[in-house]
Amino acid sequence: MNRIKRVLVTGGAGFLGSHLCERLIQQGHDVICLDNFFTSQKSNVTHLLDCPNFELIRHDITVPIWLEVDEIFNLACPAAPGHYQYNAIKTIKTSVMGAINVLGMAKRCRARVLQASTSEVYGDPEVHPQPEEYRGSVNPIGPRACYDEGKRAAETLFMDYYRMNRVNIRIVRIFNTYGPRMHPYDGRVISNFIRQALQGENVTVFGDGGQTRSFCYCDDLVDAMIRMMNAPDDFTGPVNIGNPGEFTILELAQLVIELTGASSKIVHAPLPQDDPNRRRPDIRLAREKLDWEPTVPLRQGLEKTVDWFRSIRIEDYRPPTPRY
Ligand SMILES: NC(=O)c1ccc[n+]([C@@H]2O[C@H](COP(=O)([O-])OP(=O)(O)OC[C@H]3O[C@@H](n4cnc5c(N)ncnc54)[C@H](O)[C@@H]3O)[C@@H](O)[C@H]2O)c1
Repeated sequence: MNRIKRVLVTGGAGFLGSHLCERLIQQGHDVICLDNFFTSQKSNVTHLLDCPNFELIRHDITVPIWLEVDEIFNLACPAAPGHYQYNAIKTIKTSVMGAINVLGMAKRCRARVLQASTSEVYGDPEVHPQPEEYRGSVNPIGPRACYDEGKRAAETLFMDYYRMNRVNIRIVRIFNTYGPRMHPYDGRVISNFIRQALQGENVTVFGDGGQTRSFCYCDDLVDAMIRMMNAPDDFTGPVNIGNPGEFTILELAQLVIELTGASSKIVHAPLPQDDPNRRRPDIRLAREKLDWEPTVPLRQGLEKTVDWFRSIRIEDYRPPTPRY
């Protein structure tokens, strides 16, 4: 059970990838972090560089790479709208060519390979909460399609490599996850609110703020990804991973202002195109198959996230793209 494995984490220097690398290192595995630093920075993993079981490779996953590994977590992909819309063609290439490259490696090495898919495969859903069987409502030609359709195509590739080549795959569909090391300029709602509040700006709520989201703390998510990797081979997923607690964006804004002690006011801006109105995971399958459910309440996770944002110099982080 505790055999040391050689584990590749693509996108390993990102927000979620860096927490996953940390956990795998703690478990004693031999961890290779691969990243091109498009939406992250080396500081997310510099504290790991002295670990003898950690290795960092600067590489773009759209280009094939030859490595000998036992497991692959495929997280490389810009994930926030401002990041993935900056170069939409590169985004879909990263999902599709990245998937082909890690699947080819898994086939050759007979490695297990896990795809970090997303709740965005459900688009703007007509079904609440979203179970895995729901096929989604995605606009294939809209500004979010490069990400949503890229991730859908990656799922297709994973299933086809499984059916045609018996590659040992797993797919997790991640719902909104937050925590320390989110990029302060990624434009995601939690990082935006915290950054604005700590910098004494007003907090911008899109629309009337009545739209809802569910937020999962990063430690819970990492726990679920590792459980999925260790699950029996006949369980490929896709499986939803997220926190089913549902909050309006307005409630979130008020909580962030309270926790930061800021004097910010809430201001409203127009809703972005194709922004989903409600998003909430149905996690019955994860409970049943992985014996997993989230344990960190929103307030507690937000406190830790706010503490981390206070500990960094926000001005050291440059927006990776001009549109954030
Ligand atoms: N955080 C969430 O709420 C969430 C929700 C759903 C899915 N996901 C998925 O989880 C994964 C990680 O997301 P995150 O929130 O940590 O975002 P992130 O932007 O912090 O991490 C993505 C990482 O991938 C790297 N990357 C991007 N393109 C690359 C390429 N071509 N080659 C190599 N590396 C590349 C980036 O530099 C970054 O380090 C993504 O695949 C994302 O789609 C995240």
